[in-house]
Amino acid sequence: MKKIINKGEKEMKIVVVKNSEEMSKKAGRLIGSQVIVKENCVLGLATGSTPIGTYQDMIAQYKEGVLDFSKVSVFNLDEYIGVTADNDQSYAYFMKENLFQHVNIDLAKTNIPSGMATDMEAECLAYEAKMKAAGGVDLQLLGIGNNGHIGFNEPDHNFSQRTHTVQLTESTIEANARFFKTKEEVPTMAVTMGIKTIMNARKVVLVATGKGKAQAIYGTVLGPIDPQVPSSILQLHKDTVLVIDEEAASLLPKEIWNTEV
Ligand code: F6R
Repeated sequence: MKKIINKGEKEMKIVVVKNSEEMSKKAGRLIGSQVIVKENCVLGLATGSTPIGTYQDMIAQYKEGVLDFSKVSVFNLDEYIGVTADNDQSYAYFMKENLFQHVNIDLAKTNIPSGMATDMEAECLAYEAKMKAAGGVDLQLLGIGNNGHIGFNEPDHNFSQRTHTVQLTESTIEANARFFKTKEEVPTMAVTMGIKTIMNARKVVLVATGKGKAQAIYGTVLGPIDPQVPSSILQLHKDTVLVIDEEAASLLPKEIWNTEV
């Protein structure tokens, strides 16, 4: 991979693949490598439709006997507020269905902020403290919203700091409505790791597919670092890899496809 702009320590690798299948394999192997290199690593994981194939690849690696998750810890990015963990719309349920129940992960080492805590502020502080006690996140997997949100950090006047509660924007509620029977059922509040929490991860892998994500990917890589596009802060992260398909990459000049910027 050619390096075209020298930003010192900071590095954003752009890996452009043909389609969602290739993206899933590539991201799954990156996460798999992290587990192989550090068997007790801490993974930061995401929900949404984009990482499902990545989890399938991780499951396949486990079934092939390549990966052992028994010492791995997980901290998920976010959860809806007011949705119980056993509700099939919760992110806790999603993680069980799409990854945890298929591999030998110790469920006691999996963490998702609770959207049912009576004291959400205490829940956020406790989540951060637990992450810190686990040694911090080694690899954070991210999806990205059409508006550049990461986790549930929506466009704002400032970059958020630590785990906190948020009011979801209309655009995110609409995007998430596809998972619910009616738009009215989509929760309007969530708890999410903050931008500072995400930036503390030692490595970030962001996955995206489709034309709908092209503008957000452009802003992530080449836009100004602006809280109106929360993902743009990744330009300041020292080890971020974007694994994106050609459609998501379509607004980036081809010269920077498969480069480090
Ligand atoms: C989910 C999350 C969100 C999603 C984003 C993209 O844990 O943090 O930021 O990654 O909304 O969702 P999909 O992949 O469904 O397009």
